[in-house]
Amino acid sequence: MLRDRVAQILPLWDASTPGYNFVLGMYAFGLEETGAYSRAEDTGRQALELNPRDPWAVHAVAHVMEMQGRLREGVNWLVERQKDWAPNNGFAFHNWWHLALYHLDIGNISEVLSLYDSQIRPADSRVPLEMIDASALLWRLYLRDVDVGHRWSALSAAWESCAEDAYYAFNDVHAVMAFVGAQQLDRALKTLAVMERRAADTDTNAVMTREVGLPVARALVDFGVGRYEACVERLLSVRTVTNRFGGSNAQRDLIHLTLVEAALRAGKIKLARALAAERTQLKPTSPFNWHLTARVHESMGEHERAARARESAEARRRVVL
Ligand SMILES: [Fe+2]
Repeated sequence: MLRDRVAQILPLWDASTPGYNFVLGMYAFGLEETGAYSRAEDTGRQALELNPRDPWAVHAVAHVMEMQGRLREGVNWLVERQKDWAPNNGFAFHNWWHLALYHLDIGNISEVLSLYDSQIRPADSRVPLEMIDASALLWRLYLRDVDVGHRWSALSAAWESCAEDAYYAFNDVHAVMAFVGAQQLDRALKTLAVMERRAADTDTNAVMTREVGLPVARALVDFGVGRYEACVERLLSVRTVTNRFGGSNAQRDLIHLTLVEAALRAGKIKLARALAAERTQLKPTSPFNWHLTARVHESMGEHERAARARESAEARRRVVL
């Protein structure tokens, strides 16, 4: 739907129609999410030729670069076009989040935290879309044991109403992330209880909550309290269907990252090796993926292979820097 409902009306539009670039930008994102990366990039660039100040088209191409591990290009893409998408734009926080993802992959943690403080969460916003990106970025740091200081508790306070009134599976999961990160298990469990009630409804959100939201939210709680095996079991059962609860492939990658980290911590090394191999084969330019591979080899006592993987990570990082 994301891709083809836009395709259906595209022939009715052309460059002489005001706003055509925005339709192209929408189509570009649908193409990207379905893996048609080259067509997505061409379409996004076409939109930007018509109107460079189209943050959604900028975003679609940023997604292509994220998925293809084109980290240097991704950083340049966003930084060089910053004047077109950042000032006075309600969506800018999300493009800043994408810039932070590139830096996270490269390992520039201080840059990630700086972007979080200055652009992604500069104020105590209660806009769910902004809170989602904040949760997701802190969770990725949490998986790497990065101390983010007071940021979790501040974010958790913003999500507090969700503990009483979970209402949308994708958001609810990100609320649970903040509660777990802030070590507020009571709030996380309260949210789970509301989600369980929502799951008994008959609407679309009930389906999304049953099939993806609840298993993922429970897995996050498991991770937070160190029940890594349980976390692995839950995430393995949903990892191929997480698209059913919305968000982008880049956003949902956090679920896969949680799974592989939990597998490592649970001592399920063969599973961790398989999952790390999936990521590294798909995106070999990612320094993070090579670091993950190195950790797997270390866990298996394969020290030489671990050293080679670390060299690959460093080589990839040097290419980017
Ligand atoms: Fe995005």
